[in-house]
Amino acid sequence: MLNQAQKEAIKATIPVLKANGVALTSYFYERMFRHNPELKHIFNQGNQHSGKQPTALAGAVLAYAEHIDDPSVLASALMGIGHKHVSLNIRPEQYDLVGQHLLASIGEVLDLPGDSPLLEAWALAYDQLATLMAGVENKMYRQTLGQTGGWSGWRPFIIRQKVQESAEITSFYLYPSDGGQVASFLPGQFVSVRLFLPEINLLQPRQYSLSNAPNGAYYRISVKRESGSSLRPDGMISNRLHNFTREGDVVELTPPAGGFTLKQDQPGPVVFISGGVGQTPLLSMAETVLNTHSPRPMIWVHGARNKTSHAFRELLNTWSQRSDTLRFFNFYEQPDEPLAPNPAVIPGRVDLHLIKAFIILPQATYYLCGPEPFLRQQYGDLIALGVKPENINYEEFGPQTLTLRQEFVVNEAV
Ligand SMILES: Cc1cc2nc3c(=O)[nH]c(=O)nc-3n(C[C@H](O)[C@H](O)[C@H](O)COP(=O)(O)OP(=O)(O)OC[C@H]3O[C@@H](n4cnc5c(N)ncnc54)[C@H](O)[C@@H]3O)c2cc1C
Ligand code: HEM
Repeated sequence: MLNQAQKEAIKATIPVLKANGVALTSYFYERMFRHNPELKHIFNQGNQHSGKQPTALAGAVLAYAEHIDDPSVLASALMGIGHKHVSLNIRPEQYDLVGQHLLASIGEVLDLPGDSPLLEAWALAYDQLATLMAGVENKMYRQTLGQTGGWSGWRPFIIRQKVQESAEITSFYLYPSDGGQVASFLPGQFVSVRLFLPEINLLQPRQYSLSNAPNGAYYRISVKRESGSSLRPDGMISNRLHNFTREGDVVELTPPAGGFTLKQDQPGPVVFISGGVGQTPLLSMAETVLNTHSPRPMIWVHGARNKTSHAFRELLNTWSQRSDTLRFFNFYEQPDEPLAPNPAVIPGRVDLHLIKAFIILPQATYYLCGPEPFLRQQYGDLIALGVKPENINYEEFGPQTLTLRQEFVVNEAV
């Protein structure tokens, strides 16, 4: 247990963490991979290059220091990390090794002697956090394992079908190689997919949202090919999945995880707001609502470059013909054909102010998914239009680095 003096010592590091947290966690990862290169197989190397994972870890360490008096307020953040850890098969015994590197990094970056009281305080604080997190994660592992079709760790799946959904997005229908059932999941959850990348001689995991309603037999993921530029290489796993996998090939999957899920007990309207491939978790949510023949109105606002890059267009049209509770607004940034007058197809980027009469509804819940600038824009617009932050849910397709509630709601209160 940390005593009060140790808690104060941890709090005294807050300014350093605010100013240099990312430098510290970048140093930590570099040190850890140098000493334990086998861990490169577990960590997404793209997130290391972009700095997103060091940023997410720095945010978590800072939040922990800020709430060292009462870490229970971090419960929901810990659940988010827990979902990611569990989907990467992180085990309690790995906490010791990571802790050693983190503490050594704090000592080396801050130039502290080995017997420094500050290091001792951080060692205790780390143990306390590790115990908390391993506990949350163990519960998640047990829950999944206890389900019909549930499993733990990496399980081989056969790609039975590859279906092109748009110029850039392809769906993969994944069946367990052992012929068994698959665990059910909450609409909005994701799986981790693991492939070997010969070009870097590493196994690499990536997360993909399940893009259909649960069915017990197979999972469907829908992957956007990440194209590079003169400054950035092509995305490794997405391009490998698109270009090098064939029907019949095997990939490995962990069970579904994730906290961005449809709140099925709420009666009010559901408003989905997606940008590009951000539509995948929302497809699963919408299909689930349709399957239950719920009277809940659903409004789906989507932003795509144009009709050619608008994936699942045919499927969504079929759904809207089948249901009078589902309504679409599609924004096309660079229409590839003249747009006929149609209130549902709007040129330009998603602008919620233009359609506020249709989306600002009593008791509505909002689900947002898309690139970072898209999320920031839509979240800010919803707050400006009077939506309460507790009714807005969002998912980042990468390490969680956004703190939109703090950004917009605190600013509003000023
Ligand atoms: C919860 C969750 C759900 C997701 N769901 C989906 C989904 O349904 N569909 C989907 O398509 N994606 C989804 N993703 C994103 C997905 O996990 C991958 O991040 C995405 O496919 C890109 O992976 P990649 O290996 O192709 O790219 P990476 O190789 O990881 O590269 C990612 C980016 O980093 C850049 N980069 C990589 N290396 C370097 C370098 N050395 N220097 C400079 N830049 C570099 C690349 O150019 C690229 O822009 C989801 C992510 C999460 C966290
Ligand atoms: C107290 C200790 C730890 C903290 C505070 C922590 C924190 C985090 C955070 C904040 C994320 C990003 C989550 C997200 O946004 O989705 C993350 C992801 C991750 N963590 Fe941990 N973690 C800890 C321990 C561990 C351990 C012991 C391992 C085992 C090797 C581990 C491996 C990973 C991996 C592989 C990812 C995903 C990285 C990526 O996709 O880029 N973590 N962790």
